[in-house]
Amino acid sequence: MPKTVAICNQKGGVGKTTTAVNLAAALALLEVRTLLIDLDPQANATGGLGIEKKEVARSVYQALLEGVPMDSLVMPTKVSGLWLIPSHVSLSGAEVELVGLPEREARLKQVLTPLKGSYEAILVDCPPSLGLLTVNALTAADSVLIPLQCEYYALEGLSQLLETIRLVQDSLNSRLAVEGILLTMADFRTKLTSDVIQEVRRYFESKVYDVVIPRSVRLSEAPSRGVPIALYDPGSVGARAYQNLAERIKENLHVRDARIGQRDTSPDSGEKSDLSGGGTGPEQGSGGPNSVDSDPTQPVSTSSETG
Ligand SMILES: Nc1ncnc2c1ncn2[C@@H]1O[C@H](COP(=O)(O)OP(=O)(O)O)[C@@H](O)[C@H]1O
Ligand SMILES: [Mg+2]
Repeated sequence: MPKTVAICNQKGGVGKTTTAVNLAAALALLEVRTLLIDLDPQANATGGLGIEKKEVARSVYQALLEGVPMDSLVMPTKVSGLWLIPSHVSLSGAEVELVGLPEREARLKQVLTPLKGSYEAILVDCPPSLGLLTVNALTAADSVLIPLQCEYYALEGLSQLLETIRLVQDSLNSRLAVEGILLTMADFRTKLTSDVIQEVRRYFESKVYDVVIPRSVRLSEAPSRGVPIALYDPGSVGARAYQNLAERIKENLHVRDARIGQRDTSPDSGEKSDLSGGGTGPEQGSGGPNSVDSDPTQPVSTSSETG
């Protein structure tokens, strides 16, 4: 069975799509058969993989609302071992159209089931909201990966996201785990970046990946060429960061039980989160040191590299 990971943060512009596309490609290049589902009506992951948004005749919308089999929607990409189920602007209507349907939160889970034998990892790029599409992703997923941008209000809104995750765990998907928190767009020359990294690690400890994604022009250019960074500029810092992240995720593909425990902790409350309490944090399985020991000034940790 593949592990299904939802890439989720209701804030826009935090690096969800960049992470979805580049992590998916990096996993495929590590020989993990990977499917990326673009669940954002903006279809940026679809475009970022070189598929013209206007040319998408059938998207995940048709599976969720019209009963079209998911396997008929799968498209190959320029990366061997990576497939895509594209999105389309019509998906924006799905938020409303799903409301009246039975098991409206479990549609994605249902349509994904027949596909599961074909992949080792399924990534879902979520829209910037906590609406029904995101709830569908969380209901279908084994875990959620949360990108946080290294900026002043990085933690703002995170308690709302964690609350949504808890609600989904309670009523829709008890196995949902937090895969890890990924710091993105780090500018290591600034004190702000190191302050944010320190702050986020203080709350979430080992749930924060030691791999931090640097701000990189090459990462922002790649989508305009319709390829992931691994093909656009494989030697760049951004490509190496996503490759390192993919190695962590690959090591963790079999781990599925890192639930959030304590209910009354929120990043806004000044309390520590016990996200790390499950003992299956991002650094687990890699044999690497605890993330708090790693040097936050380094764009890409190489401390637990394995061959
Ligand atoms: N590490 C990065 N370095 C530079 N630009 C980035 C990086 N990550 C994302 N971006 C850019 O920031 C913008 C928002 O990123 P995106 O991944 O689309 O966020 P989201 O999907 O959360 O809305 C995009 O223009 C993207 O190219
Ligand atoms: Mg996006």
